[in-house]
Amino acid sequence: MTASTTTTGRSQPVRLAGLGSYLPERVVTNDDLAQVLDTSDEWIRTRTGIRERHVLASDQATSDLALAAARQALDDAGTTVDQLTAIVVATTTPDHTVPGTAPLVAAALGTEVTAFDVNAACSGFLYGLRVGSSLLATGDDAVLVIGAETLSRIVNPADRSVAVLFGDGAGAAVLVPDERASLGPFDLGADGRDPSMLWAEAGGSRTPVDAEVLTGGSHFITMRGGDVYRNAVARMVASSQAVLDEAGVKVEDVDVFVGHQANLRILEAVGQRLGIPADNTHVTVDRHGNTSAASVPLALTDARDAGRLTPGDTVLLSAFGAGLTWGSCLLTWQPSGPARPAGTDGSGAAA
Ligand code: COA
Repeated sequence: MTASTTTTGRSQPVRLAGLGSYLPERVVTNDDLAQVLDTSDEWIRTRTGIRERHVLASDQATSDLALAAARQALDDAGTTVDQLTAIVVATTTPDHTVPGTAPLVAAALGTEVTAFDVNAACSGFLYGLRVGSSLLATGDDAVLVIGAETLSRIVNPADRSVAVLFGDGAGAAVLVPDERASLGPFDLGADGRDPSMLWAEAGGSRTPVDAEVLTGGSHFITMRGGDVYRNAVARMVASSQAVLDEAGVKVEDVDVFVGHQANLRILEAVGQRLGIPADNTHVTVDRHGNTSAASVPLALTDARDAGRLTPGDTVLLSAFGAGLTWGSCLLTWQPSGPARPAGTDGSGAAA
């Protein structure tokens, strides 16, 4: 099917007032995996660009990663927990089937504000940003959007076709209304006609876990890698082009492209088809692997920490994931920190 766009949201005067990230301490290199799987550093690097990934400890869960990233984002924003009005956690690997992970993060932060999960797989953070900016448009003061994942928990460690691809981590952003910044337009879409392209078949209401599931391993992630690859490139290109067209922004005016970090070849193919110079694409997949909904906020934080974002920069975010789901948006970068009266930060950037 030809990739087409489905949803477009207007640009909103929203600033990412703070960013935060958390990566578990344990690093697993390709050579480590080659000790236990029939694979090699060379195969993994040339097919995916991945060199290493972080893996959570046995006593950690998704909410622990989310909490660490959230605390950092709140500090960065100069926002207190009392100022938050909502928390959105994008994850496809929640702590529990019930309840959601966001209420657990909220409790750990010490707040009872609106808190709920968004599951759009690897596109989850883009969906979370859209939800967060919509909440701000209808009266929220400060929304914490987190992408947090522990894919290592739902990957069969003995399945080399997926075990080498994923990593664990979390990234977070505090969204506040700010006329000098902008978030959007958004293009989000979903095509659920062929979920088995990338899924964990069992473990939900369609096929609850039983002894047969556990023996067969159908609660683990499986995918048709080639189909996922082709769809990822087509959807991210079409979705990115849709937001550029909607915003009237030329591709040469994109200062930094932060795409979902699934595979270096996917990022390069998307960049080439859109006409974004390779130098403008920020890459973390080599160090993080595919961290699903955490990958975009982790990469955005990494780009900021690497000094790649300057006030007024146009940043293109784009992601693709199971569902299928996809999403893109533009972001006019403004430095993090508490809101300041217009004209006092010296950036001179307009919304
Ligand atoms: N190490 C060594 N060999 C491996 C391997 C591994 N980790 N995983 C698979 N192989 C083998 C396959 O068994 C196959 O062997 P065969 O030819 O004897 O059957 C061979 O390598 C080629 O497999 P193929 O699937 O054709 O490789 P590919 O070049 O298409 O790359 C992916 C596979 C998974 C890297 C690629 O399809 C991809 O990146 N897909 C997108 C995945 C993704 O990003 N998913 C998440 C999206 S959110």
